[in-house]
Amino acid sequence: LRKFRKTFKLHFITNLLLLIERIRRMIQNDLNIDKFIYGGDYNPEQWLDRPDILKQDLLLMKKAHINTVTLGVFSWSTLEPIKDCFNFTWLIDIIDKLYDNGIQVILATPSGARPRWLAETYPEVLRVREDRTRQLYGERHNHCYTSPAYRERVRIINQKLAKTFRNHPGVILWHISNEYRGECHCPLCQEAFRNWLKNKYKDIDSLNRAWWTTFWSHTYNSFHQIESPSSIGDHGLHGLNLDWKRFVTDQTVDFMCEEIHALRDGGATQPVTTNFMDDYKGLNYYNLAKHIDYVSWDSYPTWNKEDEIRTAYNTALQHDLMRSMKQKPFLLMESCPSSPNWQAISKLKKPGLLQSASLQAIAHGSDSVQYFQIRQSRGSFEKFHGAVIDHYGGSDTRVFNEVTETGASLIELKQVIGSKVDSSAAIIYDMENRWAMEDAKGPRNEGLFYHESVLKSYQALRKAALNVDIINMEQSLDSYKLVVAPMLYMFRSGIETKLRTFVENGGILIMTYWSGIVNETDLCYLEGTPHSLLDVFGLRSKEIDGLYEWEENSLIPIPENSLQLHTSYKCKNLCDLVKTTSAEVLAVYGEDFYAGMPTATKNRFGRGNAYYICADFEQGFYDEVIKKIVKDSKLFVPVKSIPNGVEVTTRSSSENKYVFIQNFNMHSVKMEIDTRNSQIILGNYKKSTIEGFDTIVLKLKR
Ligand code: GLA
Ligand code: ZN
Repeated sequence: LRKFRKTFKLHFITNLLLLIERIRRMIQNDLNIDKFIYGGDYNPEQWLDRPDILKQDLLLMKKAHINTVTLGVFSWSTLEPIKDCFNFTWLIDIIDKLYDNGIQVILATPSGARPRWLAETYPEVLRVREDRTRQLYGERHNHCYTSPAYRERVRIINQKLAKTFRNHPGVILWHISNEYRGECHCPLCQEAFRNWLKNKYKDIDSLNRAWWTTFWSHTYNSFHQIESPSSIGDHGLHGLNLDWKRFVTDQTVDFMCEEIHALRDGGATQPVTTNFMDDYKGLNYYNLAKHIDYVSWDSYPTWNKEDEIRTAYNTALQHDLMRSMKQKPFLLMESCPSSPNWQAISKLKKPGLLQSASLQAIAHGSDSVQYFQIRQSRGSFEKFHGAVIDHYGGSDTRVFNEVTETGASLIELKQVIGSKVDSSAAIIYDMENRWAMEDAKGPRNEGLFYHESVLKSYQALRKAALNVDIINMEQSLDSYKLVVAPMLYMFRSGIETKLRTFVENGGILIMTYWSGIVNETDLCYLEGTPHSLLDVFGLRSKEIDGLYEWEENSLIPIPENSLQLHTSYKCKNLCDLVKTTSAEVLAVYGEDFYAGMPTATKNRFGRGNAYYICADFEQGFYDEVIKKIVKDSKLFVPVKSIPNGVEVTTRSSSENKYVFIQNFNMHSVKMEIDTRNSQIILGNYKKSTIEGFDTIVLKLKR
C-alpha cells in the first residue's frame, strides 16, 4: 500500500508539473530558453537497423555540445508505412533517449514529403504545373495545398503526433512541414482561387476595373471564366498575376494553419515555427509569420565565392528580415557545417568561418544555431551534403572540431540570452512590391536590381554600425529615426501616409527612383509620382531612362551642398529625371541629354528631411551619404569606425549592450576598441588586433 501511495504521489506531482508547464506554454507560446539552441536536423529513421550508430550519435552529439535536434522532417513513410498503420515506437524511443541525455527535440510534421501510397491512393494530391500538366510522384515539397485528401491525411498524422508527444518534456517546439514553397494549378486550386477573388472583389465589374481588363478585350463576364496565370493562357494581366501570388500565399497560410490546428486539436501546446528560405520570392513570408510563434530560416550562403564580407552582409540582411517579421528573436533552423552539395561548386568553409557564420546569426537576434544535418545520409540526393558527423563517423575531423568549438562559444555567451536587437534604422523591402515591380514591363526588362539596391543601402547602414530592421509596408515606422525606401514601386497599406507622418515628425527618409508608381492592384497613379509625396520630397518625377548594360552616367556634387558631398560617383541601370519644387539639389547628372539635371535631392518637410536618390549608384555613394546623415543626426553607434571586412552588431538587454565585432577576413585586422567601459566576454583582442574570422563580443555597461 505504501509503495502504491508513493507511486501515486509521484504520478500526481509529475502530472501537476506537466500541467503547469502546459499552461505556461499556452499563455506564453514561448520557448523561454536558458541556453542557445544548438544542434540540427537528425534523421534516425535512416539508421533504424544500426542501433550501434544511433548509440554513437548520442555520444558524439554530447561531445559537440549539441542540446537540440530536429526530428521528423520527411519521416512520413516510416511513421505511417501503409495507410492508417502507424508506427511511432522508434520515434518515442529516440526522443526518450535524447531526453535522458539532455538533448531536446524540435518535432516536425511530415507534410514536406509524402509517402508513395498516399499519391497512389489520392492522385489529386499531385501538383499541376502552370502549363496544366499533372506531376508524377517524386521529389518533395510538391503537394496540392487545396486537396481535401492531402489536408485530411496531414490532419490525421499531425493529430496523432500531437497526442503522442504533447506532454513530452523533451519536445519543445513544433516544426510545421518544411520549407513551404511552390504553387498548384489543379482544378481544385482554380476553384479556390475563384472563391478567393469573389470574396475580395464581390462582383466581377470591380475585378475588371481593378485589373484593367478592357485592355486587349480581356473583360470577364463572370468569375467562372477566371484561370490562374499560365504560359499557354493569360500571363501579361498584371492584376491577375499579382492576385494569384497573393492567393498562393494565402492558400499556403491556410494549409499551414490547418496543420497547426491539428496539433492543437491533438492537445499540443508547444510553440510552433516553420522554416523559411533565403530571399524566396514565391511567398509573402510576412503573412506566414503572423500565424507562427517563431520565425526560423535555413541559411546556405555561397561562402568563399566573392568577398567574404559581401556574403556576410547578404546573409545578415536575411537574418534581419527574419527577426523583423515578428520583432522578436528568430531561430536559425538550418545551416551547413561544411559545404552543401547542391550549389554549383561545393566549397569547404575555411577554418574558423563556421564559428563566424554561426555567431553572426546570434548577433542578429537568433536564439539558435542549427545545422543540416547531424549525420550525413548514406545514399540518395544528399549523401555528400556536409554534416556534423560524416561517413567516417568519428569526432576527429576538422568539421566536428569546429562544431564543438562553436558549441563551446555559445555556452560562453549564455549571458546574452534574453537580449534583443533594437534598430534605429529600417529598410522597407516588400514582397508584394517586388512581385508587381518585377512583373511589369517597364524601364528595364533585363533586371531592375531590386534586391541589389536594398543590399546597397543595407551595407551602407551596416558600415555605419547601425542595426537595421528589414520591414514591409504593413509595419509601423514609429520606432525608427532613419528609414530607407529603395524602389517602392507599389504603394500599399497606406504607406504614403506613414511616410509623410514619419518625416513630419522628424524622421529621416531616403527614397529612390521608381517609387510611388502604382497602387495595390498595379494600376498607375495619376497626377504625378512619387504618388502623394510630391510636397514631402519637393519634386516630381517626370521620366525614367533605362540604361543598357554597357551604359553609365555619373553624379556631380553641387558646390557647397548641405550634405557636403564632394566626390563624383557612377550610376547604372535606371536614371530618374525629376523636376524640383522646394527640394535642394545636392548633385546633378554628368552626362547624356539630362546632364545638369538633379540626381540627388534633400527636402526639409515638417521636422524631418526627405532625400530622393534618382539613380542606381555605386556602393560608395550610399556609403558616403549614409555616413554623413548618421553623423549629422547623432544616432547611437557602438564603435567609431569599422575596418574593411568587419561587421558590428549590437544586442541589448535592460542592463547591458552586447557588441558583436566580427572579422570576416581570413587575415587579422587592426581595430581600436574602447575597452574602458566594456568587458570582452568572447574572442581574442590583443594589441588592437582581431584575428581572421574571429568574433569579439563586448559587454558595454549601460
Ligand atoms: C533545405 C531542406 C533540408 C535539406 C537542405 C540541404 O534547407 O530543408 O531538408 O535538404 O536544404 O541544404
Ligand atoms: Zn491544387
